[in-house]
Amino acid sequence: MLAAKAELKNAEKVKQFLIRKNLLHPDYLLTTEFGYIYFPLARKVNIPNAQVLNARFSFPARKKMPKAEDFLSGKLTAQELKLLPHSQEQVGKILIIEIPEGLEKKERVIAAAYLKANQQIETVVKKDEVHEGEYRLRKVKVLAGRNTKETIHRESGVLLKVHLEKAYFSARLVGERMRIAKQVKRGEEILVMFSGVGPYLLILAKHSPAARIYGIEMNPLAHQYALENIKLNNLPRKIVLYQGDVRKIVPQLGKRFDRIVMPLPKTGELFLDVALKAAKKDTIIHLYTFCRKEEIKQEGEKIKQMCKQWKRPVKLLRSVPGGQYAPYTFRVCFDLKVLN
Ligand SMILES: C[S@@+](CC[C@H](N)C(=O)[O-])C[C@H]1O[C@@H](n2cnc3c(N)ncnc32)[C@H](O)[C@@H]1O
Repeated sequence: MLAAKAELKNAEKVKQFLIRKNLLHPDYLLTTEFGYIYFPLARKVNIPNAQVLNARFSFPARKKMPKAEDFLSGKLTAQELKLLPHSQEQVGKILIIEIPEGLEKKERVIAAAYLKANQQIETVVKKDEVHEGEYRLRKVKVLAGRNTKETIHRESGVLLKVHLEKAYFSARLVGERMRIAKQVKRGEEILVMFSGVGPYLLILAKHSPAARIYGIEMNPLAHQYALENIKLNNLPRKIVLYQGDVRKIVPQLGKRFDRIVMPLPKTGELFLDVALKAAKKDTIIHLYTFCRKEEIKQEGEKIKQMCKQWKRPVKLLRSVPGGQYAPYTFRVCFDLKVLN
């Protein structure tokens, strides 16, 4: 069977790469032999820090997990089953589902099926709205299982306590956070504007050689969760947190940063002037926006133009489209380098 063989010290790096590229074989579990770790592969590609080979032994088979649909036959018509969305978001032990229009009357039956199918979850909620308002909050409704909206989520070896209504959090940004952590050079000082419950701060602290990471968050509840999460992960030495408005706090810090992360799609651009004033020559800015794929180039030009007007021209290093936010609209990260 096709496998990636890696030294144990590289296991986490290789695993993350395989997850990101969707290369792990879904039917088998990884195994260790003579001090090496072997990952079962779905297809053959070059993998950094690993050797790709045909393993002579067999991998332990993964137990086939039942699907929610398996528990819904007889309760939903074939037509209704087709309406069920294929992707859900799991945050810690809570599964967030969408109930399609027309199935509202059966929402509890559907939620109970998801709960039965997934041993890792304790609660199923439905999301009612997209994140909105200054704090980017949304409402969810508990449909099945334990009546809670708070959970502990594990992401890339970091624990995050989150509350689905009190503060923004998206589990879908896991790959994006690691993408940024990988670019960091030893000793960097990083500013994470809009730091929320702390996912960027903690991933950067755990997976990058940054010297110090500064986070600023306006929502007092999100800030409290971030403080708790720093303790939970025992990472207080590298992270400094402030609660308040980025526009007020950044100038008060009187510092310039090597890297600035701006995860506030929709209105993040309005804070570009604040970021540019806190940037050095060669600072990297990661600015998130929402736009349609065909508008990415135009959006990049607009951002470059804005920076020029602030007398801090930037080079657009790359634009990285991420998850879909609304029909045809994607989250895009623009990686910018300040030129002077
Ligand atoms: C999209 S969320 C991202 C949170 C976090 N970085 C994450 O990825 O989970 C944006 C966050 O920015 C915060 N925020 C909005 N405007 C702000 C401002 N002017 N100053 C500081 N924080 C702000 C919101 O409260 C929200 O928690």
